[in-house]
Amino acid sequence: MVQEELFKKIVAHCKEYGFIFQSSELYDGLSAVYDYAQNGVELKNNLKEYWWKAMTQLHEEIVGIDSAIFMHPTIWKASGHVDAFNDPLIDNKDSKKRYRADVLIEDYLEKINEKIEKEVEKAKKRFGDSFDETMYRQTNPRVLEYLNKKETVHNDFVFALENNDLEKIRQIIIDEGIVCPISGTKNWTEVRQFNLMFETKLGSVAEGANSIYLRPETAQGIFVNYLNVQKTGRMKIPFGIAQIGKAFRNEIVARQFIFRMREFEQMEMQFFVKPGTELEWFETWRIRRLNWHKAIGINPEKYRWHKHDKLAHYANAAYDIEFEFPFGFKELEGIHSRTDFDLKQHQQFSGKKITYYDNESEESYVPYVVETSVGLDRTFLAVLSSSYFEEQLENETRIVLKLPAPLAPIKVAVLPLIKKDGLPEFARKIMDTLKLDMNCMYEEKDSIGKRYRRQDAIGTPFCITIDHQSLEDNTITIRYRDTMEQERISVDKIYDIVKEKIDIKNLLKKL
Ligand code: GAP
Repeated sequence: MVQEELFKKIVAHCKEYGFIFQSSELYDGLSAVYDYAQNGVELKNNLKEYWWKAMTQLHEEIVGIDSAIFMHPTIWKASGHVDAFNDPLIDNKDSKKRYRADVLIEDYLEKINEKIEKEVEKAKKRFGDSFDETMYRQTNPRVLEYLNKKETVHNDFVFALENNDLEKIRQIIIDEGIVCPISGTKNWTEVRQFNLMFETKLGSVAEGANSIYLRPETAQGIFVNYLNVQKTGRMKIPFGIAQIGKAFRNEIVARQFIFRMREFEQMEMQFFVKPGTELEWFETWRIRRLNWHKAIGINPEKYRWHKHDKLAHYANAAYDIEFEFPFGFKELEGIHSRTDFDLKQHQQFSGKKITYYDNESEESYVPYVVETSVGLDRTFLAVLSSSYFEEQLENETRIVLKLPAPLAPIKVAVLPLIKKDGLPEFARKIMDTLKLDMNCMYEEKDSIGKRYRRQDAIGTPFCITIDHQSLEDNTITIRYRDTMEQERISVDKIYDIVKEKIDIKNLLKKL
């Protein structure tokens, strides 16, 4: 299936089966804001549980907090967000559409890459077994020309970004003939910087009210609490603080469903280390975080590393984990070595000392920080989009979400074959026992086939069917979502079979 078509189907599926709704749909929607529906919120909560336990339960040196969204406005001055949390924007005068100038150039570079790969693929087909790919890449004039172009544009782009040279960024767009995808023209405005933070008022809007910001990242809530946690938790360096929470960014180019939203959720962990050890810890966390993603069970080839060309103002090393979404490889998680930048800034702006006394080396220092920051919504999209399958059966197409059982919103559907003869009562008894441990759904409407399809579409790993034989010999039929196989088992066995498969432990023990 064409990826664009697949993506449209996934978005429609999310709405039809109660995963995600457009926010304020009744009032024609609010752009780039979404609501998680009855099944979506369960999947999201399961992802949170997986991350939270992987951080706090599996690491005794990591504890969690839940800091407020509103914080003292000076925090954002200290962190650099007031002055530097900007996107370079450009407008197309014909379509009146606004774009991130850096994204236009990155997409252009990716297109050159695709052209190179196409050339290689064509040659592979033409030369068959005798094809020497390395030699071809090093000598073919067309490939070399593309590579050369890519490198030149890339170097100019990085230079312009590093020097905050907006005119140069615009010039690259003009020189490379990058056009607006809507109007197809090169009629561009100047490039301008735009701050992404939302501002609001604390207290009455009347005189004396203070301007504050909705936090654009959860990390600062951790930084300003680091010493409180260290002291009250008697934490010794190295230690980490984890947090899951909402963040807000006034994204101008908000596209691609829940990939880029104005209100979203982050799962961040700051790991406080002794200065000089940060790059070692950075490597450790890089490996740990990729493992965390891979343990979910998605095809490992869908993940790749992206090294940052331009480091953020606070970092001395940075990598992203990118995921192959239906619209291409894009950032899923950022792993940054943030130095002591944030803590030192808060020390300076608050006028209070926030050093750590190291008993072992008998010295005081401001710790360095390694940060792992993953978007919960992007993880949701990665899991959901790679679980969506359309299978051709004899007389119909089956749409199934092959979600890992520990993440599935509903674990068991309890289905009496018909609505009479005591079958519903029998089914209710099973449901009453299971629901103490897991999310179950009881359904008696429609044919059993239709009910199976509905459960497949929301990713329920087990369906239990109660029929007349159940009343006689206390057995039921269990149906497995992925294989559609059915098995007759004794009622007493259901709990053990299901419980073993849905336990979040299955993911945690792979780490
Ligand atoms: N504290 C570091 C930080 O916030 P970031 O790369 O700006 O770093 C971290 O954000 C992660 O948050 C990203 O990798 C992405 O998964 C998620 N994220 C960022 N902006 C987002 C948005 N507008 N919508 C959804 N997720 C977003």
